[in-house]
Amino acid sequence: MPTIVSRYGYHKVHRSVGLWGYLMWSRGAPVLFSTSGYGDVYLHVSDASSECAIDASVQRLRLRQRRKLKGSAMTQNPIAANGRGYLAIPGPSVMPDAVLQAMHRPSPNIYGGELLDITATLIPDLKRVARTSGKCAIYIGNGHAAWEAALSNVISAGDRVLAPITGHFGDRWADMATGLGAEVDIIDFGKQSPMDMARITEALKADTAHQIKAVLAVHVDTSTSIRNDFAALRRAIDAAGHPALLMADCIASLGCDQFEMDEWGVDIMVAACQKGLMVPAGLSFVFFNEKAEAVRSAMPRVSRYWDWVPRGDPEQFWQYFNGTAPTHHLYGLRTSLGIIHGEGIENVWARHAVLARAIWAACDAWSQKGALAMNVTDVKNRSNAVTSLSLAYPDGTKLREWVEKHLGLTLGIGLGMAASGARDSDAYFRLGHMGHVNGQMIMGMLGGMETGMTALGIEHGAGALEAAAAVIAKG
Ligand SMILES: Cc1ncc(COP(=O)(O)O)c(C=O)c1O
Repeated sequence: MPTIVSRYGYHKVHRSVGLWGYLMWSRGAPVLFSTSGYGDVYLHVSDASSECAIDASVQRLRLRQRRKLKGSAMTQNPIAANGRGYLAIPGPSVMPDAVLQAMHRPSPNIYGGELLDITATLIPDLKRVARTSGKCAIYIGNGHAAWEAALSNVISAGDRVLAPITGHFGDRWADMATGLGAEVDIIDFGKQSPMDMARITEALKADTAHQIKAVLAVHVDTSTSIRNDFAALRRAIDAAGHPALLMADCIASLGCDQFEMDEWGVDIMVAACQKGLMVPAGLSFVFFNEKAEAVRSAMPRVSRYWDWVPRGDPEQFWQYFNGTAPTHHLYGLRTSLGIIHGEGIENVWARHAVLARAIWAACDAWSQKGALAMNVTDVKNRSNAVTSLSLAYPDGTKLREWVEKHLGLTLGIGLGMAASGARDSDAYFRLGHMGHVNGQMIMGMLGGMETGMTALGIEHGAGALEAAAAVIAKG
């Protein structure tokens, strides 16, 4: 069964329908096909109306196939195959069509012209999201790349760092520091509580020789959905009179939960583009202030590739990326930053806060009966971007699978909550509510979950959708 990949998604069709000829004939539009050699067919269309017409053609073909496939799973489940799916996982998030459309273009010149001007405008707009007047280095890479980039600029083998951990991602960042040869002191706060700032002050006070060079802390740990208070963390470091750099992971939170890099005294912040910034995965960012620059300058050596100096202050365009620019991502990012600043970053935070409260209101209602429980009990420690939940084993996985198969709704897997391979990992799941989301999507997601629990006979309290609607109605 070949897959046709197009700008708006993909369509699975039977080879037997003679799709190639059919589409060419039905459109009479310029359409190019290429094959991957693995049975996939890639479809290149030049404009949106051709694409819509081709979508319609493919839908007609699929309907015909369905009629032919009597008794198949598809016939038994006609709802699942239709309508737009919703990926409600905590990243990558739903991409605005405008972002995808901005990326749908021929490769631009990387030696002059529009792309260079666009890139120069991205830096101030990224800094406005991060709330910093510091510098920003862009990397072609995911969040792990940003972790490594940030560490490589300020940590050498043998340096000591402190890692207060509130979930899987804090643990992973600490492990990356270990991989670079750092001595890592871990304070693990478990999977349900935020950092206890007094313990951090105590650990730093105990370091009288000021050997700890940096505190690596995750703002929102996407696995547990715990949000840590960075203003309080800065105060905790200051209370110890310790000079360590404060390094923040905002990969899940940037553009969703309020974050004030300069006001909260954060020296280095890492982020990536595929969550609140609403761009397909592939770009990551390191923001750094003057204190971090001074630490970087004193490093015995820094990898040429990760070095943030030329990226943050390029003399030539190629230095932004240490090589070929991520051309299409830059167009996507230009559009997404336009959307964010068009709405206003405070409004973006406020929208996420209302939608998160609606989700929690629904969860509170469901949890009146049965086993559904949110991971973080205290509202002030919950992220507005992601909610980590559980049901009785194995209902978390059963619910995810049911809503994906029957409703086209994809919920996030539980991550790092159970020991690897443990039976109860099937109890956990997560809801992503980051980036390009609005009230009708959240109500749809909650309605889908209620439908799934009803279909599967999972016990749950009543009134969840009413409770969520009341929150959104109030705004
Ligand atoms: C808080 C946090 N940090 C780091 C990462 C790692 O990012 P990536 O998967 O893009 O490498 C993620 C990914 O979900 C994350 O949520």
